[in-house]
Amino acid sequence: MLKDLIEKIDRNRLPQHIAIIMDGNGRWAKKRGLPRTFGHRAGIKSVRAVIECCREIGVKCLTLYAFSAENWQRPRTEIFFLMSLLSEYLKKELKELQENNIHLITSGDVSGLPEKIQKQIEEVSCLTRANSKMTLNLALNYGSKQEIVNAIKGLVKSKKEITEKNLSQFLYTKDLPDPDLLIRTSGELRISNFMLWQIAYSELYFTPVLWPDFSKDELCKAIIDYQKRERRFGAL
Ligand code: FPP
Repeated sequence: MLKDLIEKIDRNRLPQHIAIIMDGNGRWAKKRGLPRTFGHRAGIKSVRAVIECCREIGVKCLTLYAFSAENWQRPRTEIFFLMSLLSEYLKKELKELQENNIHLITSGDVSGLPEKIQKQIEEVSCLTRANSKMTLNLALNYGSKQEIVNAIKGLVKSKKEITEKNLSQFLYTKDLPDPDLLIRTSGELRISNFMLWQIAYSELYFTPVLWPDFSKDELCKAIIDYQKRERRFGAL
């Protein structure tokens, strides 16, 4: 039960930043004989559940991989659907974010998204800027290799010394701690061009659960598993 799982979580050893590769929407729908879009819509329920759960437990930052730079290769109808869903989500969620003191930010090349969505992101992140309970980072049109190349270009141009710390300042995540825990749903054992620099020492958690079935219980299980790990960061 959720209550029992929550009680098992050690609040003094919470991951500060959880990043999630939300995968399996299409398979979830296929299993039910439904079009893939139904899986994406059902995935929104899980998005809401994990945000709420992180906030309740006290996780400071949550990154959700919502649309990769490679996802443009999908059929136009699916891309259109995902963009509409994102737009609908941003419209509906503002009130919820404000009430729950959550700041929305994004990682990725937002300039490549439809203009309407760019404006919505700008508005929601601006209006939630002062919210301090938690940061919700949506990875949109995000690709890690592209991010690193752009960071290198920025660093070279700045003429600063080429160090890890300085390079990090040119990544989308410059204001965030690196993820402590990276979760991927749906049983795929891949990183898929996601936060390659930032996950150098993240704990990885793979679950067969498809994203639309990923509940608060599943998130708590991942956190409990994370808390059993010994993090040595290369030391003894
Ligand atoms: C991967 O499942 C999921 C995506 C590419 C999109 C994720 C989007 C959502 C959960 C909904 C929108 C999110 C927000 C934040 C508004 P897949 O389609 O690759 O599944 P499959 O591997 O089973 O085909």
